[in-house]
Amino acid sequence: MRVLVTGGAGFIGSVVTEELIKDGHTAVVYDSLYKGHREAVVPGADFVHGDLMDAELLRHTLKEHQIEAVIHMAADSLVGESVQQPAKYYRNNVVAGLALLDAMRDRGAGRIVFSSSAATYGEPEKQPIEETDPTRPTNPYGETKLAFEHALRWYDEAYKLRYASLRYFNAAGATENCGEQHNPETHLIPIVLQAAIGNRPHVEIYGDDYPTRDGTCVRDYIHVTDLARAHIQALGILDERSGIYNLGCGGDGYTVREVIDAAREVTRRDIPVRTSARRPGDPAVLVASSERIKRELGWNPQMQDLREIIRSAWNWMERHPDGYGEAHDGEA
Ligand code: UFG
Repeated sequence: MRVLVTGGAGFIGSVVTEELIKDGHTAVVYDSLYKGHREAVVPGADFVHGDLMDAELLRHTLKEHQIEAVIHMAADSLVGESVQQPAKYYRNNVVAGLALLDAMRDRGAGRIVFSSSAATYGEPEKQPIEETDPTRPTNPYGETKLAFEHALRWYDEAYKLRYASLRYFNAAGATENCGEQHNPETHLIPIVLQAAIGNRPHVEIYGDDYPTRDGTCVRDYIHVTDLARAHIQALGILDERSGIYNLGCGGDGYTVREVIDAAREVTRRDIPVRTSARRPGDPAVLVASSERIKRELGWNPQMQDLREIIRSAWNWMERHPDGYGEAHDGEA
């Protein structure tokens, strides 16, 4: 299939592109590079440097590459920032997304896999979270992801634009060539590894008074390759139907302290910690039920052990201590 990957120069987008190419699909990365990295565009993929709001370039790209399906990952995704700057989130996650859908309609590209989020649920009433549970986002980030899901539903109904919306839990880990590099970094695992490698003095634990087994928040970490595989499998259903799927490993999840302990074990480095106040907007526990995607798409995560997930991220970080553009191959 000929697939356009918006946000394909980002962390998850680069791994999705790797998997597409591995499976023999044609991948075209469309990315503004405002957060993505040119070096993260996988060899073998075509690259278009562009903004989703550039309707002409978008239409031209869909036509020139005869795109049959889109994996839409370009978005802003920081909860705290979304509360401060909702306009940015509505513009980039909703308005730009609608521009993409309209270009797809014009071109007759009728299939889309969308990167949604556990943030669509807000503060969940029960664990593990199922797709049928209430969606009550508590911040503009989750709200904009949900708004776009709603648009997808109605575009499907009216225009037969088939979609799979994948609600990610906590993506983590790395492949040999693609890893996580955000600026600023806010995600726990890269932060912990930056402390291990000496790029930050300590890890701040945001609150240890949650009603969990050790007082710190529980999350559902999923290896980025398992997450990427789900996109490829989702493409396969879109001729027939649309669907919304959670994407996590389930189980008991891991607390912040368990993540730090596992990282100490994997890296054999000292990782100093400090406990501080809760981060606003953090639910105590977020664990997915992924029964639906297992049942309907036959998805089956291969790397569920937290140590393995962290080891893959650590291997990447040792080779790229300063991120993309600063490869230290051979020093790992
Ligand atoms: N944490 C720390 N210290 C840090 C960073 C994180 O204690 O320096 C804690 C957080 O408080 C949270 C856990 O580690 O309890 C995981 O935090 P992340 O920022 O890595 O991930 P989140 O669970 O906050 O975020 C994820 C996705 C978001 C999505 C959100 C849904 O990355 O895109 O889930 O709530 F919005």
